[in-house]
Amino acid sequence: MCGIIGYSGTGNADELIIEGLHALEYRGYDSAGMTVFTKNGLKTIKTKGRVGDLESKAKTMFLENSHCGIGHTRWATHGKPSESNAHPHGTDNIMLVHNGIIENYKEIAEELRKKGYGFASETDTEVAAKLIDLKLKETGEKLSAIREAVKILQGSYAFGIVFRDETDVVYAVKKDSPLLIGIGSDGNFIASDVSAFLKYTKSYIRLGDGETAVIKQDKTEVFDLDGNSVEKQVETALWNSSAVSKSGFRHFMLKEIFEEPEILIKTLDSITKDFHPDFSATIPDDKFFENIGTIHIIACGTAMHAGLLGKYYIEKFARIPVAVEVASEFRYNDPVLRENDMVVIISQSGETADSLAALRLVNEKNIRTLSIVNTYGSTIARESKHVIYTLAGPEIAVASTKAFSVQVLVMLILAMKLGEIQGEMTKDESTELCESLKEVAANSIHNVLCGTETIESAAEITAKHNDVFFIGRGIDNYLGMEASLKLKEISYIHSEAYAAGELKHGTISLIEEGTPVIAIATDEKYYEKMRNNIEEVRSRGAFVISFCSENAEIIKNSSNIAITIPNDADCLKPLTAAASIQLFAYYTALALGRDIDKPRNLAKSVTVE
Ligand code: M6R
Repeated sequence: MCGIIGYSGTGNADELIIEGLHALEYRGYDSAGMTVFTKNGLKTIKTKGRVGDLESKAKTMFLENSHCGIGHTRWATHGKPSESNAHPHGTDNIMLVHNGIIENYKEIAEELRKKGYGFASETDTEVAAKLIDLKLKETGEKLSAIREAVKILQGSYAFGIVFRDETDVVYAVKKDSPLLIGIGSDGNFIASDVSAFLKYTKSYIRLGDGETAVIKQDKTEVFDLDGNSVEKQVETALWNSSAVSKSGFRHFMLKEIFEEPEILIKTLDSITKDFHPDFSATIPDDKFFENIGTIHIIACGTAMHAGLLGKYYIEKFARIPVAVEVASEFRYNDPVLRENDMVVIISQSGETADSLAALRLVNEKNIRTLSIVNTYGSTIARESKHVIYTLAGPEIAVASTKAFSVQVLVMLILAMKLGEIQGEMTKDESTELCESLKEVAANSIHNVLCGTETIESAAEITAKHNDVFFIGRGIDNYLGMEASLKLKEISYIHSEAYAAGELKHGTISLIEEGTPVIAIATDEKYYEKMRNNIEEVRSRGAFVISFCSENAEIIKNSSNIAITIPNDADCLKPLTAAASIQLFAYYTALALGRDIDKPRNLAKSVTVE
């Protein structure tokens, strides 16, 4: 939930740390800090606010000749965002940055108080730093001190640590929070993800749970829990540094929406062969897809909405019942899982705590499981028996867009595969859909991206309101839920999504003169019904903006504004409509001057419960 970085090398540590923190800022951005060794000793700078604020503050300090240090960008869990709660935390001997949560910090703090320690922050992190300080006093040796301390800690952590008397060394240890070691030619890094050091090196080591690492300018050593040296495999990042830059776009979110045609085709090519679903690279035996009782799709937020569209597709094409469950509920609901059921976990980051916990629960029960993950080598990917990667590349904007679109695509192809196996879909039908999918990605979505005037006008009107409602039927209801989340997340406008037939059972009382109601109507089967629902709200004063197909004359005629998408096969239109609703949220937030890539209170990957 936070971003950590550490560096030891010949470069300017303060500049490299700030640069890395900018890249990690999507993980949390309510306060930031760093500790660097300078020729005048160890210096710690902290600030409430963004990494940019830390950068400004650092410029006023004398940080010359800093070649080693650690940095942190925070998403507050224990203690409000403030300078005193910002990391690094520590003592005269040690400073530490942390990503994760120490669950037993209160008990440990009690013990430390008895030994004379005081605390200047409300964080669990300061407790961990002081525990290591105590263990250092007891053992007199740094790695032993870290190992002894982590034996006591419960929870999740990735720590970057520096000791005052070792001016060129960063220590690291982790459990259940990601930590990579970047191997550069002029220095080495630790970081929560590769984006922090990608400009300097694509080579990295993935630190395992319980392993400790000692990072120096020219050398990196990794040790296991017993202190034995461990040979680690050096991996190569698949992304270039351009993948984590805005490439001329005003925001990452806009860039990422514009990437959709390309990544959809790339992902489609990876899971189809000769215009047929083909998951053999991941699941060689088709038995995996046979005799399924119920499919449970488990995910959070946008990924859960992709799961809802998946439910629609699987039930339509394969006639297998699907339950979509929010991971945070599933894990505690004592779920009914039968031997022949299948679980599908969907996650962009592959690090979402609730989704990971759900996966672990399912793994214990030995149910067949498939994960759909975007981030290569992430924890969910590593702990899943079968993984299908969505090839969206890094998604930096906190609001998920391109990842959603490829998740929906994978669910569609999975539904087609199951449909073929079940005998519910002919090979010809699936070939036809696969062919059309390329068209949709290359042309239909491209057309939406190239003509955004109506979307922008509708967004300007919406931006003037405090409450918005989305309505839709069938798959468009699910799309409305995602559209509503996207709008709330980045524009801060209150919105709710309803099955169009449900509004009149209560919520219609909230419609006032001018209230925007956004009708999503891509499925021809429901045009008549949707028109009736639109009339219902218009006659009560609603201003209706519809997202519909070009051929949906009755929807267009009954709406105040109609945003159209090309007339592709009904089941493919959600992919095009997704780009359209994402742009709508984007332009609404833009009209309101919001911080689109880093909306308030949020972080990109939710690695805490
Ligand atoms: O990384 P994940 O796909 O597991 O993340 C799940 C949600 O936290 C995520 O989709 C969140 O809802 C997005 N910020 C929505 O745009």
